[in-house]
This record gives sequence, structure tokens and C-alpha cells, in this order.
Amino acid sequence: MKTVKLNNGLEMPMIGFGTYQITPNTTLLNVAKALRLGYRMIDTAQYYGNEEGVGEAIKESGLDREQLFVTTKVQTSGYEETKKGLDGSLLDFNQDYFDLVLIHWPMGNDLETYRALEDAYQEGKIRAIGLSNFNELQVQEIIDHSSIKPVVDQIETHILWQQQRMHDYLTANNIVHESYAPLGEGNPIKNYQLKKQLCHIIKEYGRLQEIT
Ligand SMILES: NC(=O)c1ccc[n+]([C@@H]2O[C@H](COP(=O)([O-])OP(=O)(O)OC[C@H]3O[C@@H](n4cnc5c(N)ncnc54)[C@H](OP(=O)(O)O)[C@@H]3O)[C@@H](O)[C@H]2O)c1
Repeated sequence: MKTVKLNNGLEMPMIGFGTYQITPNTTLLNVAKALRLGYRMIDTAQYYGNEEGVGEAIKESGLDREQLFVTTKVQTSGYEETKKGLDGSLLDFNQDYFDLVLIHWPMGNDLETYRALEDAYQEGKIRAIGLSNFNELQVQEIIDHSSIKPVVDQIETHILWQQQRMHDYLTANNIVHESYAPLGEGNPIKNYQLKKQLCHIIKEYGRLQEIT
């Protein structure tokens, strides 16, 4: 699996398995299947309520933890709430660390939330810190007032919503532009013309062969 190097030196697989809307009681089954199919990056979140099942699937897979990259996202606001929430996530996940933890969406107290993640990073509980759904001003505020730069901004990006301006800003700041809903939640695929266009792009650039 091809990886992308983050600004703190960590390698992140370029394709991941998203677990949004996977119910807690089917997470073990679905994530275990994804791991058998070759996925090595799993994307979960406190909001999804399925961090525990992701941890169980990893245990069941028999794969070394170092071979995997697991992202979660905090839905808390402020220092204490975030510290407590992240410790709770680690207990549910039942592993020593998360590879990447994102602030799931901006909430107004993000500098304090981010500071809790910086401390968790220093303590070895997480291996990288990132953002999600942050716009340019919001990312810049974090950069200007923190000591550790975010490694990614995970934002909605697909053929119908390409985020070119945000992409340029993130790239210029050495922050990876990570796409969520890369299939546009199914909408482009169900549209015949767009489906044709998507197939053409894949053929033209051979991206799938390159990154899998
Ligand atoms: N950070 C955030 O705020 C945020 C927000 C959203 C998602 N995410 C992450 O991104 C991951 C992926 O996002 P997503 O699942 O919302 O969207 P997605 O991957 O863009 O779309 C998934 C949907 O595409 C449709 N689909 C897939 N293959 C298809 C095919 N061959 N033909 C027709 N339709 C097909 C299915 O729709 P149907 O089920 O209708 O058939 C499927 O549910 C999530 O699991 C989560 O980890 C993060």
C-alpha cells in the first residue's frame, strides 16, 4: 500500500477504510473483513461510537499494531473534556495509542482542545495530530498559536467538490489534504455521466494501480 509522508515523518497509507455509520455491533465484522482485504488504515471517531469494535478487529486480525494506521476524531471542546474523552477512547479501543487524532469539527475552543492533543502527543498516546472540517482561517489560527503543526486536514473532497483553493493552501503549509466521502457518498457514481468521467480519470492516470 502506497503511503504519504506526514510533516512529522510518519507514513500514512493513502487509502483507508471509513467506519462512519457502521453500527457498534457490526464493526468487528466489517473492519475484520476490511483488514483481510488488505486495508491498513482505519478511520473511526468518538462520534461514530465504534472505536471499541475497531480495536477488537485489530486484535482478532493477528496483525502487528505497527502495520496499521488508525485515526480517530475527538468531538469534545476544551482541554479537560478532550483529555478525559481521549483517555476514554483509548480504553474503548483497548490499544496503547492512536496513530492520528483529529479535531472532528471546529467548535470555538479549538486552541484548548488542540493543546490537550499536543500533551497526549508528548505522552505517546497519539502519534500525530490533525484537523477535520477546518477552513483556511481556522487552520491558520491553530498554526499560529500551537507548537505542533497539524499533519492533515480531513475535508469533504470528491469529483463534485474538489476544494482546489483549500488544497493549495494546505499544500503550501505542508499539511496533507485528506479526503472524506471520496465517492461523494455515492452520488457521482449513481450519475451515469459522472461515472463515465470517473472511469476515464482512473484509466487516464492509472491512479488505482499506483496507490494500491
Ligand atoms: N471527518 C468527517 O467529518 C467525515 C464526514 C464523513 C465521512 N468521513 C469519513 O469518510 C469515510 C467515507 O465517507 P462516506 O462513507 O460518507 O462516503 P463515500 O465513501 O464517498 O461514499 C460511500 C457510499 O458510496 C456508495 N457507493 C460506494 N461504492 C459504490 C458503487 N460501486 N456504486 C454505487 N454506489 C457506491 C454507497 O452508497 P449507498 O450506501 O447509498 O449505496 C456508499 O455508502 C467515512 O466512513 C468516514 O470515515 C469523515
